[in-house]
Amino acid sequence: MSSVSHAQQRHLSKAKRIGLRNKSITSISLFSRKQIDDLLALAASLEPYRDGVINLLPTKLMATLFFEPSTRTRLSFEAAMNRLGGMVISEATALISSSAAKEESLEDSIRVLSEYANIIVLRHHDAETAERATQAASVPVISGGFGDKEHPTQALLDLYTIYRTLKKIDGSRVTIASPDLTKARTGHSLALALARYQSEITLVSPSAARTPDYVIKSLAGTHFKEVTDPSPPQYASIIQSSDIVYLPGCRVPKGDASRDIFRKLSEQYLISLDMLEKAKKNGKMVYLMHCLPRFPGEMDLTIDRTPHAIYFKQAGYGVPLRMALLLAILC
Ligand code: CP
Repeated sequence: MSSVSHAQQRHLSKAKRIGLRNKSITSISLFSRKQIDDLLALAASLEPYRDGVINLLPTKLMATLFFEPSTRTRLSFEAAMNRLGGMVISEATALISSSAAKEESLEDSIRVLSEYANIIVLRHHDAETAERATQAASVPVISGGFGDKEHPTQALLDLYTIYRTLKKIDGSRVTIASPDLTKARTGHSLALALARYQSEITLVSPSAARTPDYVIKSLAGTHFKEVTDPSPPQYASIIQSSDIVYLPGCRVPKGDASRDIFRKLSEQYLISLDMLEKAKKNGKMVYLMHCLPRFPGEMDLTIDRTPHAIYFKQAGYGVPLRMALLLAILC
């Protein structure tokens, strides 16, 4: 340890105390409130290195294995590992350019990657298959999004964004709204994460596309409310009384007819600049988060140029947060 500076030693000691060494991360529910708080604190102390390198994991190699497209999750994990002085190997289009295209099982791919890398970040379209394959790994696996179910590291960076914006998470009023909360894996994980805090959580969706029961059940006993099929004035009022409005993104259905129906429904969940500005005139600042990517029907794009928009900063916070997580698992 003689070649490790005091600053490096401080980060390593903090990371070790979190208690995530060699753990796989498949759900936000695996974290205690204390572990999340400690991870956010570690992310804050690593944030200055977002634009540099701190050699904390120089011998560790991370493999990313993505069966679905990604800009933020894969590249921010890779940025995080590089900023920690580690190494990266990457399979960004596993369905077409890995041996999955030759019908290799995900379990076998994971077993093989375990021989090459110290940690694997996996995104897969089928949550059950991905969870089963994680069991076959001999190194930790981090979910980069499993099917429609969960996206735990997105929830961690979302909590970090709320903390950096409001300087608190307890007492925050967070609305998660979407024309489809059934498939909103980032919304599910964020709601489960906020359940660890004294936050007021409001889930807004059509009654035909509600949040899955396993998430709702986990919210029992929290400050939680579900609103379905809100009228336009009711929707505006919920938005305007929130500290944070979180859009968990939607998968627009394929096929012209389904697409048109979905777009019509989406109009009822659109966030307009007018809604946010009216709240501001009444002394209430509402911040808008989005896990991205977004489609134009979700929000008024002029919001981008206002202080309400925190979604690009949110994407940026993925780097220090994922640095903290990699360090806590690999330290
Ligand atoms: N937020 C998120 O998961 O984005 P990507 O799909 O680009 O990784």
